[in-house]
Amino acid sequence: MSILIKNGHVVSASEDFIADVFIEGEKIVAIGKSLNTQADEVLDATGKIVFPGGIDPHVHLDMPFMGTFSSDNYETGTRAALFGGTTMVIDFILQTQGDTLYNALRTWQKKSEGKAVGDYSYHMAVTDYNDRTAKEVTDMIEKEGITSFKTFMAYKGALMIDDGQMVQLMQVVKKNGGMVTVHATNGDMIDSLIAQNRAAGNRAPIYHYLSQPEVTEAEASARFADMLHYTGCKGYIVHLTCEGALNAVRKATLRNQKVNVETCIQYLLLDASLYERDFEGAKWVMSPPLREKKDQEALWAGINQGLVNVVATDHCPFTWEQKLMGKDDFSKIPNGHPAIEHRVELLFSEGVNKGRISLPKFVELSSTNAAKLFGMYPRKGTIAIGADADIVILDPDKKHVISAKTHHMNADYSGYEGMELKGKVENVILRGKLAIDKEKCLVEPGYGKFIHRDKVC
Ligand code: URP
Ligand code: ZN
Ligand code: ZN
Repeated sequence: MSILIKNGHVVSASEDFIADVFIEGEKIVAIGKSLNTQADEVLDATGKIVFPGGIDPHVHLDMPFMGTFSSDNYETGTRAALFGGTTMVIDFILQTQGDTLYNALRTWQKKSEGKAVGDYSYHMAVTDYNDRTAKEVTDMIEKEGITSFKTFMAYKGALMIDDGQMVQLMQVVKKNGGMVTVHATNGDMIDSLIAQNRAAGNRAPIYHYLSQPEVTEAEASARFADMLHYTGCKGYIVHLTCEGALNAVRKATLRNQKVNVETCIQYLLLDASLYERDFEGAKWVMSPPLREKKDQEALWAGINQGLVNVVATDHCPFTWEQKLMGKDDFSKIPNGHPAIEHRVELLFSEGVNKGRISLPKFVELSSTNAAKLFGMYPRKGTIAIGADADIVILDPDKKHVISAKTHHMNADYSGYEGMELKGKVENVILRGKLAIDKEKCLVEPGYGKFIHRDKVC
């Protein structure tokens, strides 16, 4: 099977030119002007942007959390991602405290194998570090192609590890060439603020926001950076939301340290005023919460300063019925929201089309940097000869409106309902196969493949 994409505006993280792209089997085999080649299928991309398939390195599919499960599974979640131009996701395996990493891996393999529509990998969340875990970490990197390890500095009693465990994990991950990633918020402080608010009878969603002030994230981000500096381990802060946390990362650069940073599309575009809408605010109850306008400005600036490397989603959807679990108590609202589908289009519309970022920066943030940081580059994350043919064709001028009535995620509301975007994904190719053709998905569950990742150093 071969595909010829004709006359598109081809963009990578470093280049930007008009060309044809020729695909044979799963790979890109030629790029050039007016290629003289026959192909089984020809896609005319005149006037369209052609860029590498999006990689979302922060999603939670079918995840047990807060007494329920996130509402997208591998089939619905990766299909919705494809519709929006994301060809690969990295999900989180959660170790059960007291149990092994391998048991957790087997559980997630059952959720994903034969079901994923798009490509995927896993980060391994280490929630219980001990000598047995240390040996398993080595095996994950050497044998399983899982080279990143997620830690939580919050959610005590379920997911959180302490600082001693964090340092020991960093030491073993560094020795084996992996990366430690973190949910960096001060869990003890947040738990105490939640308890104070509940005791005072403050039960509305806005108190979720007020129980996680900026300082809880700034402090934990600085502490994580210090532990990375001490151990020499490579690190990545997930879903960074605010100026204070970004300044902790900026400060680390003064001692010649690089701390990798992910923000999520919602922290760039939405703000905490949404919590003022009584229980409707539950739609945006996530951790960390949405912040202030000044934080959005700091994040956009941090992107152009090279401090923020990746824009992900933290897709962790729940239906409205699930959100109602917390109707009388904000601390029982399942944390998370649906986002996997619109990340690429939102970043294009609000970032590129509004002049906040360049086209190559858009590609870096949505695809290339995640591939590089998580051991998949140049197989994924670029348009180059020999790379996997994961390609998006987007019409930069086409307008459309986000709605739960038309999205493909398994969630009955959208955090962006009614928002008009300029720039629409038209075609998506995944490993050489036309996967999305306008409103149709042409690949089946099971087409999505587990991607075995390399060491990161
Ligand atoms: O609210 C969120 N973020 N839910 C998913 C779990 C996490 O902390 O990433
Ligand atoms: Zn988190
Ligand atoms: Zn998350």
